[in-house]
Amino acid sequence: MAEKRRVILDMDPGVDDALAIIYAVKSGRLDIAGITAVAGNVEVQKTSTNALKVLELLDAPGWPVAVGSDKPLKRALVPETWVHGENGLGDVQLPEPRRTFVPQHAVDFIIETVRKNPGELTLVPTGPLTNVARAFLKDPQLPKLIKEIILMGGAASTHGNSTAVAEFNIWADPDAAKVVFRSGADITMVGLDVTMRAYITPEDVQELRRIRDNRVTAFVEVLTRQMFGLTAKIFGKSMVALHDPLAVGMAIDSSYCTVERMPVEVETESQLTLGQTVCDRRPWRDLDTTPRPYAKVCVAVDRERFVEDFLATLAHQ
Ligand code: RIB
Ligand code: CA
Repeated sequence: MAEKRRVILDMDPGVDDALAIIYAVKSGRLDIAGITAVAGNVEVQKTSTNALKVLELLDAPGWPVAVGSDKPLKRALVPETWVHGENGLGDVQLPEPRRTFVPQHAVDFIIETVRKNPGELTLVPTGPLTNVARAFLKDPQLPKLIKEIILMGGAASTHGNSTAVAEFNIWADPDAAKVVFRSGADITMVGLDVTMRAYITPEDVQELRRIRDNRVTAFVEVLTRQMFGLTAKIFGKSMVALHDPLAVGMAIDSSYCTVERMPVEVETESQLTLGQTVCDRRPWRDLDTTPRPYAKVCVAVDRERFVEDFLATLAHQ
């Protein structure tokens, strides 16, 4: 068995963040150092509590959960309650958590944990990059001490979701994203180009419930119900894109996606294209020798293999 990758999940639960937590815990293939919560889909008081609630639903070990940034570096917070519900979990109610948060702020938790595991820790951000950027601004040596960042965010050659060109996690805090992409860290960008293709359907959830009828799969069924209804209206087809679970998937098995190394810059000035990840996919891009931030951008996904593993993992006893 390959050695488990040691990770911090930096999240804004969020329906698909919650699915990513379930997948990460049940996969048993990650050594989770902790979950840091950030404001994004909903306010940080809700995202942090939601992380605790989902861990307790799973009877997961007492992984640390740290409360993080309550607003972006410069912009105002723009929650996505129309997608994730007022409470961030599709307005599904879970019992109040028994445990509480670790005392450190998420930014300090990230700094301390990375410094205790130099070169060994992977950050998996699945929300706005505010916590990660603030950790880098507070400790400029940190990017060199991180093994890898596998982030859900951006769009290389497809349209955005928050705007015509920008994906939510980047658009919500473009200034933070610019700091992270320019940090020199080894970044894998799991963007909409692949996450919109990695989706589940109501039939997939029904099959999951047929295979395993327990409180976790019952939660998955009600958690996804609102989003299935929303996507049926928007796309004419009920589907839940596994945005955040695919970022976790890439930490588990990086062969799920094909990656291409290219320059990635974040637009932080233009109101028209704010939050766009400008990815240079020109075949002759390397003729431009000006120093630019490179990242490994996911350009294709083995949807069948990933979705099959995701559902089989959620069906684990
Ligand atoms: O664009 C998708 C991303 O925005 C996901 O992380 C989802 O949870 C929302 O935060
Ligand atoms: Ca998210």
